[in-house]
Order: sequence, then C-alpha cells, then structure tokens
Amino acid sequence: MSERNMSSFQYHRHTAYSRSRMSGHLLDWANQPEVYKTYEGISSIPLPNGNLPEERNFREMVHGEETRPPSGITFQTLSHILRLTNTLTARTRYSGRDFFYRSAASAGALYPNEIYLAHDGVPDLNPGLYHYGIRDRVLHPLRQEKVLCPILDATDFPDKTNAAASLLITGIFFRSAWKYRARAYRYVLLDAGHVLENLILSLRCLSIPFSVHNRFHDRDVNSILGINGRQEACIAVVHLYSESDEAFPVAEPRKLSVLPEAILQSSTVSAKEVVYPEIPSIHEAGADAPDSAVSGISSRHDPGISVQNWQAIERCKTGNQMLTYPELLVRRRSKRNYIPHPMQQNDFGGLLDLICTSCGVVDKNADGADSLQVGFLADRVEGLTPGFYLLDPHERRIGLVQPGQLTGIMTNACLNQDWLAHAAVHFLFMADLNFLDQRWGARGYRYAMIRAGRIGQMIYLAATALNMGACGIGAFYDEEVNAILDLNPSSSLLYLVAAGPVKRL
Ligand SMILES: Cc1cc2nc3c(=O)[nH]c(=O)nc-3n(C[C@H](O)[C@H](O)[C@H](O)COP(=O)(O)O)c2cc1C
Repeated sequence: MSERNMSSFQYHRHTAYSRSRMSGHLLDWANQPEVYKTYEGISSIPLPNGNLPEERNFREMVHGEETRPPSGITFQTLSHILRLTNTLTARTRYSGRDFFYRSAASAGALYPNEIYLAHDGVPDLNPGLYHYGIRDRVLHPLRQEKVLCPILDATDFPDKTNAAASLLITGIFFRSAWKYRARAYRYVLLDAGHVLENLILSLRCLSIPFSVHNRFHDRDVNSILGINGRQEACIAVVHLYSESDEAFPVAEPRKLSVLPEAILQSSTVSAKEVVYPEIPSIHEAGADAPDSAVSGISSRHDPGISVQNWQAIERCKTGNQMLTYPELLVRRRSKRNYIPHPMQQNDFGGLLDLICTSCGVVDKNADGADSLQVGFLADRVEGLTPGFYLLDPHERRIGLVQPGQLTGIMTNACLNQDWLAHAAVHFLFMADLNFLDQRWGARGYRYAMIRAGRIGQMIYLAATALNMGACGIGAFYDEEVNAILDLNPSSSLLYLVAAGPVKRL
C-alpha cells in the first residue's frame, strides 16, 4: 500500500476486528507512553484560577436561553475555557502511581489529545503560541511572536477583524497505538471529538463567539505548532472572536522563528515508538482538505437504511433542576453499572433534545456536517417500540428502521462486553465510507469520526445531567455489527455510545 493512497474505506476495513482473526497482543509496559507532554528547559506560566461567572443550568445553556452579552476575552477567560474543556477530574492508583481521569472520555484512558492556544493581543498574556499543561494547570510558552494571522490563513479564514485567539486540538498517535495498534487512528479522532465538544460547550458557557474548522492546511498548522504531523498532528482548530469595539489588531504574517529542539522533540512520548503504517497513510491521505463546496458531489449520504415513518422530537421543557455545565463536567464518568429498567420517556426526550440542539448550533459552519448517520437501538424506552431507529438531528425527528430487541446481539458483537446488554439505548454512529471518500477524499473520515466523538461527549454529559449513565464503545467486531444493522457494503458503524439508568451508589 503506498503512503498516500489509503481511503477511509480501506483504513476502516483494514483495522476491523473479527472474531476469527483477533490476534493477541501483549502490551509493552516498559514503553508505555507518557500521558503528559513535557518541554525540557521551558518555563511554565500558571493559569489564573478565578471564579467562573454564575452559570445557567445545562439545558438552558445548550438551548442558548438567557444568553448574557459576549464577554471580553482576557487571560482569565482563556484559563476558564481550558479548564472547562479538559481538566483532571478523578484520581486512582495505577502501577504504584497516581493516575488521573479527565473531563473528556478517552478510549482506554490513553489521552492522545493535546490543546494549544494562540493569540495576538489578549490582555495580561504576551502574544504567542502556548501549550496547555493539563496536569499542572499551566501554559508552556512555545512561540513568543504573533501567530494568529498564519493560523487564520491556514484555515482559509479571510475575515480577521474580530479574531482574538485560536485553540488547536492535536493527537499524539502512539499514545493510543501502543494499545490499539493500527486501529488507534479511530480512537485518536473520536477522542478529539470528545474534547472538541467540551471546548464548544465551554465557549457557549462563557458566551464567546467562535467558529470550528476541521478543514485546514495540515502542513502549515503543524509547522506553526512545531509538530511533525507523523507523531503528532493537528485535528481541529477553533477560532474565538471578540466584540468589534475591542477587536485586537491581528499582525500581518511574517516568517516565524525556528523552534528549539526541546519543542520539536516533545511529541516523543516513549523511548520505543512503533509506527503502524496505516496511521500515517490514512492521515496523510487526508492532508489536502478539499473545499466541500466545490467537490461537485451532490449525492446524499445513504448507508442503505430506510425509514417508513418519522416522528417529531418534542423540544424539552423540563430539566430546570439540571446541574450546570461546569458541575456536569467533573461528574461525567464512563458508567457500566446499568440496570435493566426502562428509560423514562421524559428522560429520553431530554437526551434527544440536547443532542439535536447541540448538533444544530455548530453544524451551520462546520465542515462535514452531513458526514455521519446517527441512529440508536432502543430496547427499553418507555412508550417506544423496541427497535433500530435513525435520528435526524437537523429535522429533530426519529424513524423506526427495524423493530425488535437488538441490544443483546449488539452486545455480543461488541466483544461480549456483557454489561452493555442492560443499557436501555445504544446510540450508533454510521457512515458510508465511499461517500466520505468521494465527497471529501480521505479527509472525510476525520470529519465523520470527530463528529461522532462530539455527539458521544454530548450524550455522556446529557446522560449525567439526567441522572443516567453513558459509556463509549470503540471495541466491536466490525462485520458483525454492520450485519446486525444491515448496512450496505460500503457503510460501517464507526462508534457506539450506550446510555441508560444506572445503579445508584
Ligand atoms: C472512543 C472511545 C472508545 C471507548 N471504548 C470503550 C469500550 O469499548 N469499552 C469500555 O468499557 N469503555 C470504552 N470507553 C470508555 C473509556 O474506557 C473511558 O472513557 C476511559 O477509561 C476514561 O474513563 P472515564 O470516561 O470514566 O473518565 C471508550 C471511550 C471512548 C472515548
């Protein structure tokens, strides 16, 4: 297989799990990747810990009700954003050391994603490029020069007038590949989607205008960040805006300085890193992001599933007792202690409402909004015929594809993770991989996976808000799950998120 020719379809099929072909794989504990990035000889700047502004409950926030005027962006605001995007939330002992879980879920808790911040003139912080040190709540200054303009250019963003800062999410492939080998690219993208959803919610929580960019010039962005695109690569960029009367002057581009080795080598997370060639192959095949508007492909995304009758999702009016987003973020955990009780109709409606509302907010601008088909298996939802349904978040409706109790066989196909059978609902994220390839080239795979991760994180938070549990599932026998859903030959399940009532502890 040549370096730059892997398609979404080929990568996904090539990294399929199969009951008959699963080979055992011993983890190389001596070379377990470091989960925190370090920069030798580079100082760190503590992030201010000021109080968060008073917050609305989660439902009101997601619906954008009672929005306060957009706040000005200061160093304190940036600190809030980072804290509300990803932070340490729980501690456990692991191999004789403290191990910390985070506010965004991550396959195998391997945490492949990093966050960078660039700004040209936010008060109280020198212009430049910074890495977010999540463990110590610090910024690592990487460039002390104005970089916002080249980043805006690399996302083809012509209007620079109100741009105040950019946040960039990257993935360090070996952190996940250490355990999941070639399949890890799936998880690095899904995990990035989880982090991105938190970032979007943090900006909504703080009423900061923003735009999300999955389409950017890889080489330009990676080189600004000082990462080589093979060990670590940028996955998503988010621009933040300030009100026009306090706009920051964005500097004209000029040649950026050469970065020191301590920064250029910082993506190395293990003494012995193995490169699984499928990962650079699919990632680099998607390096040239085609403009979706000029792709000329007008066919609709169709994984071969048809719905007879659609039913509307009511806008959720209840939920005023819900916790706030910052409160939910620290409570969110993967739950596997499901009880075989039906999900209440109201809770299910609330869950769907939050998912649809969240999708609608960003989809207007985000690339690849129609890269994904969302569905669910509902075995135990009050008032709903058990079966396989599609969810159309834009039209806010659901449609029955096939009646029947299907979570049991789906559980078997998910590597027999038996607790899954008790979850009331299995949310499903599916895509026609050939459609992705035709429409966006291999870049389409990123769009679909990031989007699946984003909605997955929203399901986690919405379930937590409704006193239920959720858990992402990336481990499944691919052909078996596709057969259960009767997808057409070019389509696949990308990700599954279980949700439902859990045992109260
Ligand atoms: C993309 C993805 C795939 C996952 N796959 C599985 C899985 O197959 N089985 C499982 O039990 N948990 C799975 N998880 C849950 C992670 O194990 C969990 O997020 C991680 O251990 C961190 O714990 P926390 O979510 O409680 O913070 C997955 C999570 C993500 C984001």
